[in-house]
Amino acid sequence: MTTSIGVPTNGDALYGGAHNRRITTSDLIAAKVRGEVWPMITSYDALSAGIFDEAGFPVLLVGDSAAMVVYGYDSTIPVTCEDLIPLTAAVERGSSRAMVVADLPFGSYQSSPQQALESAMRFMKDGNAHAVKIEGGAFMAETVRTLTQAGIPVMGHIGLTPQSVHQMGGYKVQGRGESGQAIVDDAHALVEAGVFAIVLEVIPTELAARITNEIPVPTIGIGAGAQTDAQVIVWQDLLGMTPGKQAKFVQHYASLRSTMLESSSAWARDVVSGKYPDLDHSYE
Ligand code: KIV
Repeated sequence: MTTSIGVPTNGDALYGGAHNRRITTSDLIAAKVRGEVWPMITSYDALSAGIFDEAGFPVLLVGDSAAMVVYGYDSTIPVTCEDLIPLTAAVERGSSRAMVVADLPFGSYQSSPQQALESAMRFMKDGNAHAVKIEGGAFMAETVRTLTQAGIPVMGHIGLTPQSVHQMGGYKVQGRGESGQAIVDDAHALVEAGVFAIVLEVIPTELAARITNEIPVPTIGIGAGAQTDAQVIVWQDLLGMTPGKQAKFVQHYASLRSTMLESSSAWARDVVSGKYPDLDHSYE
C-alpha cells in the first residue's frame, strides 16, 4: 500500500506505478488535506538520491547541511552557491519522482529580495531544483513574495535556523514559553507571502502542533515532535554515519559508520596480507 503521494505505508510497496511523474507542491498540500504524513530526507549525490527516490521519498532536500556532512565545515555558514548547485544537479539527475528542494546558502539571499531571486534562479537553471528553501520568518516575507511571483516555489524554515547559530548563541530549542508566539506569527507571515511548506526545527511539540493546525500548508518537523505534517532528517544522521554526540531527535535506523569502518578495514587487511585479490577476482 502507498499513500496517494506515493509514500510506502507497508514497507515493501513503493510508488506502485501511481506516479510516473515528479511530486509537485500541489500534491504536498493535498496530502495535508487528506491527513497523510510524509518523510523528507536530505541527499547530496546521485547515488543516494536514486536510493531514496526508489524508497518512495516524495521530497529530497539538498540541504546546506552539506557544509558539514559533505564539505567538513563545523557549521552551515561557509557553504556557497558554487558548492551546492552541482550537488543539486546530481540529486536531480539521480532521481525521477521526488521533488528536489535546494537550500539557498547563507549570504546568497539575505541582502535583498533581488539577491535572493538571482541566487534562486541559478539553483533552478543550473541545479535543476524544483523549489528552494530559505531560513527566516516574517522578515523574509518580501523575499518569499519576490521568488514566488517569479515562479519559484519556496519552502520556509523557522524555529532553530542554523544559519543564525551565532545570533542564537548555539543550537538550542527555540520558542519555549512566550517566545513561541513570535514563531506562530512567522509561520502565518510566510504562508501569506506564498510558501508551499515550512520546516519547523527544534521547537516544543505543542508549538509545532499549534502551527500545524493553524496553517494550510504542510509543516515539516525536525526535533518538533510527532504532530507535524511531515518529518525531515539528514540521512547521515538517520543511518548512523555521523560521529559524536547526536541531537535528541536523531534515532539511528542503521549503523553505517561501523559497517564501513569494519568492512573497509577487512579489505585493507586482505590487501596487506595478499589475500585480495584472489583468483576469482582476477582476469586470466
Ligand atoms: O540543511 C538541512 O539539512 C536542513 C534540514 C535539517 C531541515 O535544513
